[in-house]
Amino acid sequence: MPGSVTFERHDDVALLRLDNPPVNGLSFAMRAALGERVAQALADEAVKAIVIAGADRMFCGGADIREFSAPPPPGAAHLPAILDEIEASPKPVVAAIHGVAAGGGMEVALACHVRLAAPGTRLGLPEVTLGILPGAGGTQRMPRLIGIEKALDVIVGGKLHPVEKALALGFVDECVEGDLVETAIARARRLAADGAPLRRASKLTEHLEAALGRPEIFDDFRKKMAKRARGFDAPYACVDCVETTLTMPYAEALKNERAVFHRLRESDQSAAQRHAFFAEREVAKIPDVPKATPVRSIASAGVVGCGTMGGGIAMSIANAGLPVTVLESSPEALDRGMAIIRRNYAATVSKGRLSQAQMDARLARITPTLDDADLGAADVVIEAVFEELPLKKEVFARLDLVCKPEAILATNTSTLDVDAIAAATSRPERVIGTHFFSPANVMKLMENVRGARTSPETIATVMKLSKKLGKVGVLVGVCDGFVGNRMLYAYRRQADFLLEEGALPEQIDRVIYDFGLPMGPYQMADLAGLDVSWRVRKAQAPNRPAHLRYSPIADRICEQGRYGQKTGAGWYRYEEGSRLPIPDPAIHELIANVSAELGIERRAISDDEIIPRCLYPLVNEGAKILDEGLALRAGDIDVIWMHGYGFPRYRGGPMFWADLVGLRTIYDTMSRLHDEHGEWLAPAPLLKRLAEQGKGFREVD
Ligand SMILES: NC(=O)c1ccc[n+]([C@@H]2O[C@H](COP(=O)([O-])OP(=O)(O)OC[C@H]3O[C@@H](n4cnc5c(N)ncnc54)[C@H](O)[C@@H]3O)[C@@H](O)[C@H]2O)c1
Repeated sequence: MPGSVTFERHDDVALLRLDNPPVNGLSFAMRAALGERVAQALADEAVKAIVIAGADRMFCGGADIREFSAPPPPGAAHLPAILDEIEASPKPVVAAIHGVAAGGGMEVALACHVRLAAPGTRLGLPEVTLGILPGAGGTQRMPRLIGIEKALDVIVGGKLHPVEKALALGFVDECVEGDLVETAIARARRLAADGAPLRRASKLTEHLEAALGRPEIFDDFRKKMAKRARGFDAPYACVDCVETTLTMPYAEALKNERAVFHRLRESDQSAAQRHAFFAEREVAKIPDVPKATPVRSIASAGVVGCGTMGGGIAMSIANAGLPVTVLESSPEALDRGMAIIRRNYAATVSKGRLSQAQMDARLARITPTLDDADLGAADVVIEAVFEELPLKKEVFARLDLVCKPEAILATNTSTLDVDAIAAATSRPERVIGTHFFSPANVMKLMENVRGARTSPETIATVMKLSKKLGKVGVLVGVCDGFVGNRMLYAYRRQADFLLEEGALPEQIDRVIYDFGLPMGPYQMADLAGLDVSWRVRKAQAPNRPAHLRYSPIADRICEQGRYGQKTGAGWYRYEEGSRLPIPDPAIHELIANVSAELGIERRAISDDEIIPRCLYPLVNEGAKILDEGLALRAGDIDVIWMHGYGFPRYRGGPMFWADLVGLRTIYDTMSRLHDEHGEWLAPAPLLKRLAEQGKGFREVD
């Protein structure tokens, strides 16, 4: 029966099986059932030993996260107490683990006296990734079992480890090749017959004693994780709880762990991280592209243009194990592009993150060419030539001639009209945008841009390709900048206006960094290079509406040949060979001159003014995008911002964050800013509607 723990007697051994498809999640009902079955086995005199196993696909995937949003029902079974009972059992308890043991499931296994696992099993404590911690003894049993430092890695790392690694670390006792459950039953029976003392993790002291004289372990670990854990509460709470193994008696530490678990579970950060988890899964759901949509198999790919993006895209494809042919327009450009690819791989090898053999295998999958015909067999071709519409149209017309009729033709354009590019071919239904982010071999986001005629099959195939490349593909519609950059423009524009009104780049960058983004807009611009967007702005200048405020600061900086890091100067200056941005008095003067020219009296801008002024307009633009149907869900926008721009996961993305701030607050502020600073800040109709209804973006269908 689903949602239960079954009880089977195998002579004198009780076999308890967690049975709650699809992952045997520990819902309230399952916890109660586990408690009852354990009690039954303990009370049954004919039972001498117990085996706990999982039904079907796995041992246990952990708690049911969906239950976190509501308070537990009255009298709900308390997992830590059940696990204490399992551990204290005088009858040996053996965990027979297959598939996955994660989170609460892993904690069940930790409470058993022996852990046997099948080959291919993955095990770990990923709670931290959801903004919580292992709250059923995990922070106490794991360190006692495998040692403090290893336990910190397992708990704060939050990864699922292959069984071999778990065995080496010591939280699996044996990997069983044969029949797992039979072996576990035999082992349990033998333990009962031997009557030898049982190994109870909470009673182990050896590792704690070894760490007693070294309290610095914890601060060292905090320092080590500081960069990656910046802004997150849960990793620090995990370390604090592991530290109590040395400072509190077990029972007290367990109580403390539970209290911290509850605090984290109720926190905005955990809600945000849970939202992120579900939103990442939801992006795959496309209403008019149902699961049954046929998907073309992609066995080989082509890339056109081996520049910054094309090179990174080719690497991503090769990294995923697919052969890729890279087409360039000249031998020099091809050599240059391939040399950069080789250099990038070599850098990863020298950091020890890739073996030489892996590098060679990946490089061998990339075939450089100058001949269009070599793309004839590719199942998908991704174009990444210069951002010029006539050029892209010409490239697509040529591809249409040489590529097999069923091949998908994708463009990596960041601003151009995918429909106009598709119109240059005889197969617009097989044309789509695949907007990668730089560096394309690292960044996980792909905005997959659906043109007016893109077919469901093409969409389904490219969404699957994103997955195959280890990326998160989010389907978006055609508009200027698509979803991410269109919102970025709205934020950057206001940042520039704040400069005219009195702020400095380093102040805005600091506030945005402290909010949790990896860098502010000006450091980001210097990193990306200022010249490309300058060229775009110049091209757009004749059509710029005169009534809309426009800041000339960025143009003035470019006019001085300051294009960012690559020229040693941009919004900041850089010392030779360094990427450290240094505030530059020349830029301060340039900004002050612009303010004076525009007749703006500079004033002190408080840090508190910067987030609403920059990020509310970003959210406002997101509301317009949602209303225009260019993103399917607010959660899709959040995924774009977390994976494409480093919006902090503990804030759940801009739309989730906006819901937490309250759309009423954002709407009222936007209305006021609109009155004070003009047209760009007009509140989006959807924002107004939701604010008036007291709703959030999560409630938009
Ligand atoms: N750089 C970014 O951060 C970024 C991010 C997302 C999307 N994009 C988009 O990706 C595309 C490429 O940008 P990039 O930054 O890699 O530019 P890039 O200038 O680094 O590379 C473009 C490459 O295309 C090659 N090329 C030009 N014409 C060609 C042709 N007819 N046939 C084959 N190759 C040709 C050039 O030799 C050059 O190597 C653009 O559409 C751009 O808007 C860029």
